[in-house]
Amino acid sequence: MPVVYKDGDANLEVLRDRTVAVIGYGNQGRAQALNLRDSGVSVIVGNIRDSYRDAIAEDGFAAAEIEDAVRQADIVMLLIPDEVQGAVYRDSIAPHLRSGKTLDFGSGYNIHFGYIIPPKDIDVVLLGPRTVGVEVRDAFVRGSGAPADVAVWQDASGAAWPTVLALAKGIGGTRIGALETTFAEETELDLFSEQAFWPVILDCMLTAYDVLISRGYSKDAVVMELFASGEPADIFRDMATHGMFDQMKNHSLTSRYGALSRRQGAAGENLRRRMETVLEQIRDGSFAREWAAENEAGCERFQGLVREAEAHPINAAHHHLRGRLASTTSAHK
Ligand code: NAI
Repeated sequence: MPVVYKDGDANLEVLRDRTVAVIGYGNQGRAQALNLRDSGVSVIVGNIRDSYRDAIAEDGFAAAEIEDAVRQADIVMLLIPDEVQGAVYRDSIAPHLRSGKTLDFGSGYNIHFGYIIPPKDIDVVLLGPRTVGVEVRDAFVRGSGAPADVAVWQDASGAAWPTVLALAKGIGGTRIGALETTFAEETELDLFSEQAFWPVILDCMLTAYDVLISRGYSKDAVVMELFASGEPADIFRDMATHGMFDQMKNHSLTSRYGALSRRQGAAGENLRRRMETVLEQIRDGSFAREWAAENEAGCERFQGLVREAEAHPINAAHHHLRGRLASTTSAHK
């Protein structure tokens, strides 16, 4: 059974006298850099010269060039998008990695699929918060933390585990629990939920929207019912705390009977086969190759998919309702 590490299992002293370079100041970079600094860790931020530098300065860090940050650091946290990590690693990081340093990832993607092959004399670890950066920061400030995955790919020093656990403690991950995993497991599960689970939820909502609109229900009422009220977010939060079915106790008996009596087989055999195919494409590397080729080709297909999603009428329906909910007047249209 994988270990769940708590605050008592991690020692921040491990990071004393060591400098952590956070490379990238986006979703995860900002949250992790701020949390580590608040935990008393010596943090520098390395970033290219783009708009993120404004936030770095506003938060009181001096932005360094990535190469300089890596040179100065004992621990390098690579928190830039997965699809650019290979090139940035090759050009700006690898030449400055010295024996004894630690390279940390927020996702196992590039190591697992072999786009980054680090030298043998460094530690390679994974600290992957299981939620968005804003929540990693907000939970920490509230005195809580976001659960995280932790893993070690390469333990050259013999002390990779104490290092990654100290980093997890520094960002607040061990306050709730840091789950031991592997680079392969973290990567494949993450891609699976992105590619097999969430698309089904999205498609389910869009199908429900089409069915209800075609039967004459008002757009406002439909988007309110499906997601604009925030109820699905509340249900998911309650699932995380109380359990998938225990959260149902917050709902009426009518609601519970309706859901339970119509649950079985709702997704169908087809969905299982689809999920198995998607998982196979993740595990055999064909998705990673497809995504690398898409990036090479300039992401034309991806941009088309984004445009298609943005053009769906559910967006306009949602904006209309949100506008009315935010409005202070009680207009009748
Ligand atoms: P992001 O998209 O927010 O990263 C933005 C940062 O990357 C900025 O500092 C920007 O300057 C830098 N950047 C962008 N393009 C660059 C380039 N070509 N060269 C150098 N720097 C560049 O990234 P995010 O979402 O924080 O992801 C970072 C890592 O954390 C990834 O490995 C991701 O899988 C992982 N992760 C992300 C989560 C999230 O909440 N988004 C959750 C858990 C893990």
